[in-house]
Amino acid sequence: MWEKPIGIFDSGLGGLTALKEISKIMPNEDIVYFGDTARVPYGDKDTKTLLLYAKQNLSFLESQDVKLILAACGTISSLAGFSELGSKVPLKGVIDSACASAVKATKNGGIAVIGTDSTIRSGAYGTGIHLIMPEAKVYQRACPKLVPLIESGDINCFNEILMKHLKEYLNIFKTLDIDTVILGCTHYPLIEDMIREIIGREVSLINPGREVAKSIFKLLKDENKFSCKNSPGNIKIFVSGGKGRFLKTANSFLKRDIEKNIKVVDIDKWK
Ligand code: DGL
Repeated sequence: MWEKPIGIFDSGLGGLTALKEISKIMPNEDIVYFGDTARVPYGDKDTKTLLLYAKQNLSFLESQDVKLILAACGTISSLAGFSELGSKVPLKGVIDSACASAVKATKNGGIAVIGTDSTIRSGAYGTGIHLIMPEAKVYQRACPKLVPLIESGDINCFNEILMKHLKEYLNIFKTLDIDTVILGCTHYPLIEDMIREIIGREVSLINPGREVAKSIFKLLKDENKFSCKNSPGNIKIFVSGGKGRFLKTANSFLKRDIEKNIKVVDIDKWK
């Protein structure tokens, strides 16, 4: 019965940072991934629109007979109505595990959070951190230019526009007493090296995909829902827009050729 895949969705490439961590620590699990590339970015949309997108993404993944769904998207996970979305299978978001890990990592209680406009407006990471560590000093900053640049595929430190925006967004943190930064949008670990170059070696960077992968491992273990297979899990990828750019970045990030595994889905058919 548990030979069912894990479902993951995001607006585009970002959720691959969770997929990579999940397949690293649970290599035998099958995964169905949906990247909503026709409607990316999510970070500048209003709550009503995002809840509608989330519902459609959930319905599509439910149709793939998954055993659990991960909203590998800070923007969706931080929405006010996220926990009431009502999925037929357990639904996980990325906020709680990232907050818990940041609190564990910080020595001086100074934590920075970067994310999309919508995520930062929600204050969800700050709320999550303060629930565990009321005395924490949390500094939050929206970085709206990053997702479109990451989706465009040119993600290296020779991309001057990307580096310019990163400096604009991150330099302020060097003047604040912080020792931990939550990469509060799942796209950001794709440019972790560049962020690290600006923010410095001594700061802990929290990757929400990595943290939620550990929490999914625990959940499946506790509920005895691991796959019994001994062979590597299958990965199926669906996107709602063009495959081209997605494929190029995904192949190089995942270090495998996913061309055979990727299909286009008309997400508007799902309600
Ligand atoms: N990767 C998503 C997040 O974690 C979505 C970003 C976007 O599409 O704006 O917030």
